[in-house]
Amino acid sequence: MTAHVEHEAALSAADVQEMLDRQTRVLELIARSAPLPEVLTEILVSLEQLMPGARCSVLLLDRERGTLHHGSAPSLPATYVAAIDGMSIGDGAGSCGTAAATNAAVVAADVRTDPRWVDFLDAADGAGLRACWSTPIDGPDGLPVGTFAVYHPQPHRPTPREQLLVDRFTHLTSVAIDQAAAELDRRARLEAETARRTAEEHSRAKSELLAAVGHEARTPIQAIVGFAELLGTMDLDDTRRREALLHIDAAAGHVMDLLTDVLDLSRIEANALPLHPEAVRLSEVVLEVFGLLSGRADQRRVELTHDLVDDQVYADRRRLRQVLLNLVGNAIRHGQPDGQVSVEVAADPPSSMLTVTVTDDGPGIPPDLLPRLFTPFALADTGSPDAGSAAPDGGGEESIGLGLALAHGLAGAMGGELSVGSSSAAGTTMRLRLAQVPGPAAPPDPPAGGRP
Ligand SMILES: Nc1ncnc2c1ncn2[C@@H]1O[C@H](COP(=O)(O)OP(=O)(O)OP(=O)(O)O)[C@@H](O)[C@H]1O
Ligand SMILES: [Mg+2]
Repeated sequence: MTAHVEHEAALSAADVQEMLDRQTRVLELIARSAPLPEVLTEILVSLEQLMPGARCSVLLLDRERGTLHHGSAPSLPATYVAAIDGMSIGDGAGSCGTAAATNAAVVAADVRTDPRWVDFLDAADGAGLRACWSTPIDGPDGLPVGTFAVYHPQPHRPTPREQLLVDRFTHLTSVAIDQAAAELDRRARLEAETARRTAEEHSRAKSELLAAVGHEARTPIQAIVGFAELLGTMDLDDTRRREALLHIDAAAGHVMDLLTDVLDLSRIEANALPLHPEAVRLSEVVLEVFGLLSGRADQRRVELTHDLVDDQVYADRRRLRQVLLNLVGNAIRHGQPDGQVSVEVAADPPSSMLTVTVTDDGPGIPPDLLPRLFTPFALADTGSPDAGSAAPDGGGEESIGLGLALAHGLAGAMGGELSVGSSSAAGTTMRLRLAQVPGPAAPPDPPAGGRP
């Protein structure tokens, strides 16, 4: 404490005030986790202002390699910084190398006559540096984490005032480096924790998907086994034999569809789904989808309408058809009997995306299902997870519960987006956004772009 008071006497009241102001600014930077180089620069610039004529730098020690690297050197010439950067520490290796190796301050009052500076003399001369005083910066373990260097253009020895200032600012530097290391550590731990949790969630989702696929495939496979056994019965008449074969065919088809969908899903997840994007005229695909689903729509007396003219999107034609087949299929299945399903398109300037909406007049997606709508096998509570369950009002259509998960993944893989536009007791609107091909359609494909 006596030494402290003695030292304080070396500073004027103005010095003390200025130093406290500067320290506060640095501590504020540290408190808001500013990047280390920014904090170090603030420290060095502060000290240079308190010690006119001096130029300061902080070198950080790479303990594994035993080398020093600039943390900040705001007023040293770049050539000098480059010459010193990466220098090995050792007793006799300049002021900083020696200070870091011996954990003691080193004063080279005149570098030209100091034997430790032989190797660095050209660099010092080139930068106009004549004196260098280097102080080790303590780490939490008491060993140096770097050095604090103060240069002068003429031979120079530190005065008690400078000694005190450098002590203070070296301590501040030690705090800054310590905080930065702690912050890095905290971030690394946070990232590791997030990565661990994501991996766990993935793994759980995979297990659940696997279990659901197994469950889903069981019933049709049991059907195949059962009908195959029946076929083995000698006295089966032709009609029943044909019926058994039809059942086997349908069940096998169901398992194939299931496996194809699951394979597609896993490819989407692995970013490995082969896609062939091209300019696709939306109305063509929608009409194709309407054609494929007309039987189902007729069964429920649902009218299919669209307002598409010649809008084109960039998409994989087959995959776009798959997405729309599911959206329109869902709308027919869940819409009102005798109702209407419409497909509409709207431009979305200035995003250069087209929004395609599929709207039905059904009772809406159950609220409990909404948050997991795009998760594989997410079915409404009324929909049994049993294999091949027919939708409650779906005209015998089988519901797997992969359609929207796939459509969502496919839309994303094509650079688009699938979302629920709205869903209420008055009906559901699904919204598909895709990149628009500019300009009017120019038959034949591919189109020329460039509508002004
Ligand atoms: N337009 C809609 N209106 C009301 N509910 C819907 C609508 N679209 C989807 N759903 C609900 O979301 C569930 C999941 O839909 P999804 O398309 O993923 O599966 P699915 O149609 O049941 O089976 P899949 O498409 O695999 O044959 C449906 O079972 C249904 O409960
Ligand atoms: Mg579906």
